[in-house]
Amino acid sequence: MRPLIAGNWKMNGLTEESAALARGIRHGLGDAAAEVLICPPATQIAAVAAILAGSGIAVGGQHCHTGKFGPHTGEISALMLRDVGATHVILGHSERRADQGESNALIACKVSSALEAGLVPIVCVGETAEERDLGQQQQVVAHQLEGSLPQDFVGVVAYEPVWAIGTGKVPTAADITAMHAFIRAELKRARPTAADARILYGGSMKPGNAAEILALPEVGGGLVGGASLVAEDFLAIIRAA
Ligand code: 13P
Repeated sequence: MRPLIAGNWKMNGLTEESAALARGIRHGLGDAAAEVLICPPATQIAAVAAILAGSGIAVGGQHCHTGKFGPHTGEISALMLRDVGATHVILGHSERRADQGESNALIACKVSSALEAGLVPIVCVGETAEERDLGQQQQVVAHQLEGSLPQDFVGVVAYEPVWAIGTGKVPTAADITAMHAFIRAELKRARPTAADARILYGGSMKPGNAAEILALPEVGGGLVGGASLVAEDFLAIIRAA
């Protein structure tokens, strides 16, 4: 399967800079071996999708509600993301688990609504520094997978150790390999519909470390934060794949 390189812009991007970044990525892409996805803030999805139309680069959301429509002030449904050109949605990112208190059960409902709307969910899991210090990383990730993935899950899983996000710290190659093998085994055991799902790595992926990480077994691509905000860096990661 082709690797997937996904850019998570998080809460970054006003109209002009988003358009410039999307154009820069489009024009620099060339013949990429990887599948490429950009997840801008919700306010920019339609504009970025228009800029990327016909380029082969997909556009996604960064979260969605569990429902389709209704009295949920400030929320956005999977159907609405789909309506403005998104094909994917990131769910269960650790920043939302922490900032919005999203539980595994809530994330599983959001994943189901994304699947129902025809979006590909990218479900994030990963341990904190404290959990890794205690040697609990596999237990934590197993619990997140069990709780956040509906029984009929199909989509993408992203392993993002919380302590590696935006810190410049990256797990060793051996630690990434071990966790990705563990996630693969868990999917095969408990979510057979997702036995072959791509498992992305995320957390301080940069042009300088992308080739090494992306070559590891069971690493099916990257979920890139900070480096996806600089066209040259994001393109270098895409080329590394
Ligand atoms: P950074 O690449 O900035 O560490 O962010 C990773 C991430 O959270 C992507 O979802």
